[in-house]
Amino acid sequence: MKFEEFELERNQSLFENEVDYNLSESGVHPLKMSEILTKDEQAQILDKKLLYGYTNGTPQLRRSVIDIYDKELSLENVLITSGSAEANFLSIMTQLDTGDEIVYMIPNYLQIYHLARSLGIEVKTLPIRQELGWQWDPDELKKMVSSNTKMIVICNPNNPTGAIMNSQIMDKIIEIAEINDCWILSDEVYRGAELNGVECRSFVGATEKTIVNAGLSKAYSLPGLRIGWTIGSKEYIEKAWSFHDFTVINVSYISDWIASRILTYERRIKILNRTKDHLNHNLDMLCDWAADIPSISLSKPEAAAITFAKINLDINSEEFVFDLRDNYSVLLTAGKWHGLEGYVRFGYGTPTEYVESALSRVKSFLKNK
Ligand SMILES: Cc1ncc(COP(=O)(O)O)c(C=O)c1O
Repeated sequence: MKFEEFELERNQSLFENEVDYNLSESGVHPLKMSEILTKDEQAQILDKKLLYGYTNGTPQLRRSVIDIYDKELSLENVLITSGSAEANFLSIMTQLDTGDEIVYMIPNYLQIYHLARSLGIEVKTLPIRQELGWQWDPDELKKMVSSNTKMIVICNPNNPTGAIMNSQIMDKIIEIAEINDCWILSDEVYRGAELNGVECRSFVGATEKTIVNAGLSKAYSLPGLRIGWTIGSKEYIEKAWSFHDFTVINVSYISDWIASRILTYERRIKILNRTKDHLNHNLDMLCDWAADIPSISLSKPEAAAITFAKINLDINSEEFVFDLRDNYSVLLTAGKWHGLEGYVRFGYGTPTEYVESALSRVKSFLKNK
């Protein structure tokens, strides 16, 4: 089987550690273990046996994940995965077949887009519209979804725009999915990174055929733990767990142990507050910087350490990104890799001075355009 290239991840993998300034990251600069574990826990961890553990995630961690959502869930509704990337992979591999049709939100992270197309699934893309505040037009959605649609695939809060879906559109999606008896798959890895500090509505439990995937890489600033999860019906979780036997078997026992400890309510909120404060601070700085630069127009995100900027120049997004990378050693991501040409994505979650230095190089680059 031939897989399409996942352009976004490939470009990051190849260059993120080579450039002087990496603004291609969508999360907040990672926390250290010493910042999230007590002295006692740090000592305990050295004494841990390196077990396989529970291949579906320890009951303690699955319980902590359930507590993030305000829905009645049982441990059998949750599977711990290696990042939300594995969660997305399992959802597609267990629910879709060659020849199926899905409706897919763009711009997006495109993992599911490339994977589904590689599997011979028809991917109908439906853009969120900038003029609607990066929301779906419900009439367009209604027209596109039919009884042939197997799944509606959403990323909320959205990567790369940082937009949060409004509640009326969510209700509309649920209604349309129920009428057409199709799955809803919502990637919510940026939930918890809202700039106003209010966790947005989740699709968890919206319908019997709803899957929500998320993890600790973005809002929680812990990408190195590689902890994600998938939430859905018991039947779906059984299938996903069986497929997980073929992928990673289980996540690292140490990661599970750490995640179980730091997801208690107080500790979780402390991490999310750090995220919120840092993002608000850096976004103000970024908006001030962009105010007198006519060659790009930022669209202000509502969540996540990313902003999608329109390019007001006669070059495409890859030309912009490659030129900036090769001549100024700053890495951004190209709109093309998110499914929408004419934009570039800035990640602003790294330390403030780092973002400032990178932006001053971007300014020099733009002056020469
Ligand atoms: C929307 C979205 N989903 C999933 C992922 C994968 O993240 P992870 O596997 O680290 O949770 C990313 C990473 O950037 C993302 O942006």
